[in-house]
Amino acid sequence: MSATEIAAIILAAGKGTRMKSATHKVLHPIGGRSMIGHLLASLEEVETAQNVVVVGALKEQVEAEVPDAAIAVQEPQLGTGHAVLAAREAMGDFDGDVLILYGDVPFVAPETLRAMIDARREGADLVVLGFRPADPAAYGRLVQNADGSLARIVEFKDANEAERAIGLCNSGVMAADCGHLFALLDRVTNDNAKGEYYLTDIVELAVGDGGRVAVVEAPEAEVMGINSRAELAEAEAIFQARARADAMANGATLIDPESVFFAFDTEVGKDVIIGPNVVFGPGVRISDRVAIHAFSHIEGAEIGPGAVVGPFARLRPGAQLGEGAKVGNFVEVKNAIISAGAKANHLSYIGDAWVGEKANIGAGTITCNYDGFNKYLTVVGDGAFIGSNSTLVPPVTIAAGGLTAAGSVITKDVGPDSIGLARAGQENKEGAAARFRERKAAEKKAGKWPRPDPTAHDKNDG
Ligand code: UD1
Ligand code: MG
Repeated sequence: MSATEIAAIILAAGKGTRMKSATHKVLHPIGGRSMIGHLLASLEEVETAQNVVVVGALKEQVEAEVPDAAIAVQEPQLGTGHAVLAAREAMGDFDGDVLILYGDVPFVAPETLRAMIDARREGADLVVLGFRPADPAAYGRLVQNADGSLARIVEFKDANEAERAIGLCNSGVMAADCGHLFALLDRVTNDNAKGEYYLTDIVELAVGDGGRVAVVEAPEAEVMGINSRAELAEAEAIFQARARADAMANGATLIDPESVFFAFDTEVGKDVIIGPNVVFGPGVRISDRVAIHAFSHIEGAEIGPGAVVGPFARLRPGAQLGEGAKVGNFVEVKNAIISAGAKANHLSYIGDAWVGEKANIGAGTITCNYDGFNKYLTVVGDGAFIGSNSTLVPPVTIAAGGLTAAGSVITKDVGPDSIGLARAGQENKEGAAARFRERKAAEKKAGKWPRPDPTAHDKNDG
């Protein structure tokens, strides 16, 4: 390990009681990605050489979410200083700089972390990330020297009146040299209001040794902590506001930005128009000039240039729309390629399918992709025309230029430029409707069919 490397210790052993959840707090999603996933994405940009997550309960859940991070267990939980010490063994012989983060403070920007590392390398023994919250509430307060460097951090419970009046607060995020960090933590005691080993005490210890502690400041939105479902919703709102602003800044029109929900990885091209009430799950790429109309739900989909989606469309994972393709109202597409210029405009399910260029899928077409055991591919060739209310039973191919008659159940391949017709022929019975009405009216009058009672049915009777 080289001294120019960076590692991260993420504290996540707190119980997270206020979430009232069987899921570990740091696994709750914001914009479709877990809190800890957001943090690790930032750390990837900082290029940390190793990441250690300190957990208490629900270790397996965290392990499964972050397979590339080392997991350290802190049991019992005796404070933030004690939590960092729990990571010591996992840090091995690492001797570079360490960033300390909180698993429930997910939005710390990579630029902020880099600024902290820079300050460390410019000679500060420790670097603390401060912020000025609108309501400083119970945060630890940063007590500065005249030159702006940090003298100590005082926890709200241990603070006097004057200290509580300080607006600059401790976000909890810190940077330090690894060896120095653990040497300082070995000297921390639990002689305070909470009887805990405070990480924050290392500031006063470093300063007492003649060291200098620097403060880097971040906006409040970057260091907000999440302790409850209400705060999770606030974080989601912050995330969405940023994603909407980014999409618009990059050249997309959002007709009603507040009602559009993005995922952490939604890619939006230029001259894209997104209507009201559109929701994106993870894994969506939208090319230029795409229109996504109101009330569409889209995840795991790639949408080609100039394609038109919705209103009321659903694109599920593996949906790929070619240039100028159209997927209209009440159409669901899953694991299917809809090639350039192809259309499925109304009321369809297209799953596990390949649809060729300029093919037309008529209203109400269903691919019967699943038989309860396996899934099968439906192929619709270039320029094929699928009549309304066709039921395509795969594996089946309607070759290029082929056509299916409306209402057909297609179980056999249809050749190129051929027609597949699979429905009963029509028979007209003259005057039969009048006779039917007469008979039914008589039965009704005689009370032959009383109102059905499903509650009287015995399931054992089949
Ligand atoms: C801590 C800071 C405070 C700061 C605030 C910012 C200390 C002593 N105080 O206070 O200055 O303003 O965060 O939110 O550091 N954790 C463990 N093991 C433990 C205790 C905590 O892993 O034994 C983790 C928690 O899961 C959480 C983080 O550390 O992610 C912070 O713990 P929390 O109890 O919220 O600290 P605060 O008292 O809020
Ligand atoms: Mg807290």
